[in-house]
Amino acid sequence: MHDVAAEKVEGAAPAEFPVPAGCYAQNVVSVRHYTDRLFSFRITRPQSFRFRSGEFVMIGLPNAAKPVFRAYSVASPAWDDELEFYSIKVPDGPLTRHLQKIRPGDTVLMRQKSTGTLVLDALTPAKRLWMIATGTGVAPFASLIRDPETYDKFEEVVLANTCRDVAELAYGNELVAALKDDPLIGEFAAGRLRYVAATTREASPLMGRITARIADGSLFAGLGLAPFDPTVDRVMICGSMEMLKDVKALVEAAGLEEGSVAEPGQFVVERAFVG
Ligand code: A2P
Repeated sequence: MHDVAAEKVEGAAPAEFPVPAGCYAQNVVSVRHYTDRLFSFRITRPQSFRFRSGEFVMIGLPNAAKPVFRAYSVASPAWDDELEFYSIKVPDGPLTRHLQKIRPGDTVLMRQKSTGTLVLDALTPAKRLWMIATGTGVAPFASLIRDPETYDKFEEVVLANTCRDVAELAYGNELVAALKDDPLIGEFAAGRLRYVAATTREASPLMGRITARIADGSLFAGLGLAPFDPTVDRVMICGSMEMLKDVKALVEAAGLEEGSVAEPGQFVVERAFVG
């Protein structure tokens, strides 16, 4: 694991290409590489930028007259004075083949509007919130589990994080471990946030796809909980296209109805960014 950090710098570094209209240009504060496929980075937060925990923004680099932008969930909570993102590195990805090389002090472009359906307002009230993530799909939940509003709205929160191997679980594992000592969130999360980390390709204490563990009931049995129930449970899902489709089918089979910001419901889905 490899950490890079810099002095915190407010404002934007000068860019070689002009900043496109409707974009912020922000400085990279720190970068952390977890594996050869995954890294996270933090950038300065524009003072005027507001977002809801769980939303995504469009991120680009000032390396062309018309930069490539990709959707990134903000992984930091709405109260944080920096913005954190968690990204895959795609060797020939139009954005991530460059983005994976950023260093503290570099400039990152961010479109000014955030959006997304993995927000608390898209769910109707209930007792328990399930956050089902695979791979970089844990990013929006990294924001939501650090937001006090999540614990205002739900008595219990379960984050189910599934990755290919143990090293890929590091971001989620460390996030949850750090919450215990967080002066703001530690108290809210104590005894109410449950975390289930599993792998599919490397041996670990808990193995198997989240879909298999929902279907055979082991996800619920392991937590001492009953299967999804529309009167008790709300579900947020974030992962690859295939994962969304498969988890959505299981959640719908349990009788939950999909919601949106315009029409809140019992579960919501969002695709994790790749590219
Ligand atoms: P698997 O190792 O069996 O492919 P990725 O990094 O490719 O997005 O995968 C992240 C995790 O999501 C992996 O553990 C992977 O399992 C799992 N996964 C991939 N496709 C699905 C799916 N359709 N349903 C559930 N889990 C999936």
